[in-house]
Amino acid sequence: MPGESAGSGATAVDAAPCIGVFDSGLGGLTVLAALRRRLPHARLLYAADSAFAPYGERDAAYVQERSRVLTRFLLAQGAQLIVVACNTATALAIAELRAEWPGLAFVGIEPAIKPALAARAEADGPVGVLATSATLASERFRALLAQHGAGARVVLQACPGLVEAIETLGPQAPRTLGLLHGFCQPLREAGCTRVVLGCTHYPLLTDAIRAELGEGVRLLDPADAVAAQAGRLARTLPPQARDAGLLAWSNGEASLLLRVAEACALPIERVLALPQESPEAA
Ligand code: DGL
Repeated sequence: MPGESAGSGATAVDAAPCIGVFDSGLGGLTVLAALRRRLPHARLLYAADSAFAPYGERDAAYVQERSRVLTRFLLAQGAQLIVVACNTATALAIAELRAEWPGLAFVGIEPAIKPALAARAEADGPVGVLATSATLASERFRALLAQHGAGARVVLQACPGLVEAIETLGPQAPRTLGLLHGFCQPLREAGCTRVVLGCTHYPLLTDAIRAELGEGVRLLDPADAVAAQAGRLARTLPPQARDAGLLAWSNGEASLLLRVAEACALPIERVLALPQESPEAA
């Protein structure tokens, strides 16, 4: 049966667009879940670069090199469109990827500053932004904030160590939740009423963030908007894949990926080994 070769959740179709998705690790699964909901008939390839995470505490050259390695890998697997399911890689590397592959469509993700600020009312408190140190320090983020946030009260909170804790211990681990508690405190104290989840790992902590900040605080995650944009672009591509379905590769711990995928309602049954390639060797 043709569907079987596509791995978990495969559906035999006449032809499917093939979309490659990557992140520094598990966070992009939150974007993959949105893609899967929007595009059940696409072939989705996911690469988790867990052995090289976190990106958010690295320099631009490192993130650009890893992003090139992962893009090359996904292209070799047949991807026709690349979703950069990582705010940090979008901020630091998507321009370089577009320059290196001018004929290829890339969809990135960036903190949902614009929707967070667009709909605010007088009575609203400040907007909080949780993101990696590298995202907050990037020119791209600064430009986004200058464009949409002029005059607005915005509380920026970097979360060093949080992605690493999720990647090594998991989203529910006491150490992960302890770090989260510390990062949420300034937002709580400032009375933020909207909080932008500016790293794709953070929606994995949605329940814990709600418990920290209160049910009344609105959390903004742009994953569905990213999936919608990927869907629009996918419609312009000649469908090439033999079947739909999900395939996942990781250079980290497969069991944790499977656990997180299950929590995201992603029917991934097994994780293939992502070839280890050092940035120097790439
Ligand atoms: N998921 C990545 C993001 O959206 C995490 C970056 C990291 O590895 O630190 O920024």
